[in-house]
Amino acid sequence: MCGIVGYVGRQKAATILLEGLKRLEYRGYDSAGLAVLQNGRIDFAKKTGRVGNLVKEAKNHHFTGTTGISHTRWATHGGVTDANAHPHLSSDDKFALVHNGVIENYSSIKKFLVSQGYTFKSETDTEVLCNLIAYHYAKEPADVGESRFLESVRKALRHVEGTYGIAVICPEAPGELVAARKGSPLILGVGDNEFIVASDVAALISHTQNVVYLKDGEVVHVTPKEFFISTLDQEDVSPVVDRVTWDIEAAELNGYAHFMEKEIFEQPAALENSMRGRFSEDGSTAKFGGLNLGPVEFRQIDRFVFLGCGTAWHACLVAEHLLERFARVPAEADYASEFRYRNAPLSGNPLFFVFSQSGETIDTLGALREAKRKGYKVLAVNNTVGSTIARETDGGIYQYVGPEIGVASTKAFTSQLLIGAMLALHVARMRDMSFADGVEYVNALKGVPALVRHVLEQAPRIKEIAHRYAHHTDFLFLGRLSLFPIALEGALKLKEISYIHAEGYPAAEMKHGPIALISEKCPSVFFAPKGEIFNKLVSSIQEVKARRGPAIVITTEGCEFPPGLADDIITIPDCHEAVLPIVATIPVQLLSYYIACARKCDVDKPRNLAKSVTVE
Ligand code: M6R
Repeated sequence: MCGIVGYVGRQKAATILLEGLKRLEYRGYDSAGLAVLQNGRIDFAKKTGRVGNLVKEAKNHHFTGTTGISHTRWATHGGVTDANAHPHLSSDDKFALVHNGVIENYSSIKKFLVSQGYTFKSETDTEVLCNLIAYHYAKEPADVGESRFLESVRKALRHVEGTYGIAVICPEAPGELVAARKGSPLILGVGDNEFIVASDVAALISHTQNVVYLKDGEVVHVTPKEFFISTLDQEDVSPVVDRVTWDIEAAELNGYAHFMEKEIFEQPAALENSMRGRFSEDGSTAKFGGLNLGPVEFRQIDRFVFLGCGTAWHACLVAEHLLERFARVPAEADYASEFRYRNAPLSGNPLFFVFSQSGETIDTLGALREAKRKGYKVLAVNNTVGSTIARETDGGIYQYVGPEIGVASTKAFTSQLLIGAMLALHVARMRDMSFADGVEYVNALKGVPALVRHVLEQAPRIKEIAHRYAHHTDFLFLGRLSLFPIALEGALKLKEISYIHAEGYPAAEMKHGPIALISEKCPSVFFAPKGEIFNKLVSSIQEVKARRGPAIVITTEGCEFPPGLADDIITIPDCHEAVLPIVATIPVQLLSYYIACARKCDVDKPRNLAKSVTVE
């Protein structure tokens, strides 16, 4: 939430900052701003609304400086106003600061600073931190051994409780920038005599693929020639420069109208990437390089616990189902946000997995830390190399689906479903699954990109259905067993991007309450694939139809329904149970995408949401 970009180098900072902000806009779009050092002072512009508004506003300024900072905001403290937009300046105009995170003790610090004569223009916690730096700077002897600027930032941060990714500039230190992080992501891009700090690689990848992932508690001091990393306690840190494996192409729309659309259609390739090199030579099981667990240790696991938030939690629910179904091991999925405070009794030898696309979700990170504090091993299914979750887990499985930019998760979700299915196979083959069943399972996994491609070919028809239903204001999504989580996911997708009220339920639960909602105004999306409970699902559809509820039915090829039962039928190919959730997800992604488009919603930037939720 919130994106920051800072630049030090030879080029005009404003151009690079605005370009970076556009790429980070998915992190928040309440307001945007930038500040540049020029003519011995800070020049700045900020505006509520999208980065586009800031771009227009910036034209009224003559930004020529080569050092600057910028921000795109997802409001926490203070409303969406120009005054609350970042950057914030200290009341003596000596510092400008951008911030991603929450300063929890801002109120007591503010009281103190007011008593010292500092004044405030906004309601934000960020302005408090900026003035705290100014306060320490004023107190710091001018001949301090190291940069007085750097030391003032460090001193201020030692008093701060909460989370931050910050970038600060100071006209008395021209060509310098100080950035720091605790609990919010921050990456340093290392170019040729130029450096970019940003909340996400996407903001800097068009300039350099060489990056340093800063760790919590680290501060980086940047000049046009070099950078220097230390801790808040002045200990030097040796930087590790990593190379990002994807390039700017992956973060472009490439002809699609929205990133969500692009990412839906990228799924066959994304799924290939998540599987690549992960099958045994005999083709009977899945293998993972990063679990850091030997087979003997693995066999001793008596319970799997999957933790995640939002869409990732839905993937956890499917993983739970597949582990129990195929590996016959007890498994459970929990909301990371609940687990972290629930103090659940844990016994035996459980293995924890956290699922997170971004690797920065604060609740998932909190759950991970809680499980580790209790002495358990925690692995991750994660898409972001260098993320906090990737660093803090004991091992895990990278998804390798490339950057996911659409706020509504799509390719990261199906990749997590796939990895969950592969994990179930891995464990099952260590237990009771036969070689032949393993080979059949592996072949099903290998075939999933083609099945997804097949469903994607139905996009025009699903679009036509979506247009007919787009005016409705309530939807139910109903499924059973491994497709109950997909019903939840379908409802989440629809409400996130089209603001339609939608609920996901186990189909049989519908008659225990939600049936009261059924009318000709409330369509139900049913998952009714072939299988032993097909007839039960048909009965549920009958109950809806008896109450004049429209029914859109997603079913497998070859299934037959009584005439007139379904208003619309979308067929998916018949497939192995382990990959059914993946294949069944595609129609509901397309349905919600096209409904949102028909309602002219801003699909990639849905209101109130941000891609990575780094506040509680
Ligand atoms: O980055 P994460 O996978 O940890 O994110 C978890 C959720 O915030 C995320 O899936 C959210 O629900 C998406 N907006 C869903 O589309």
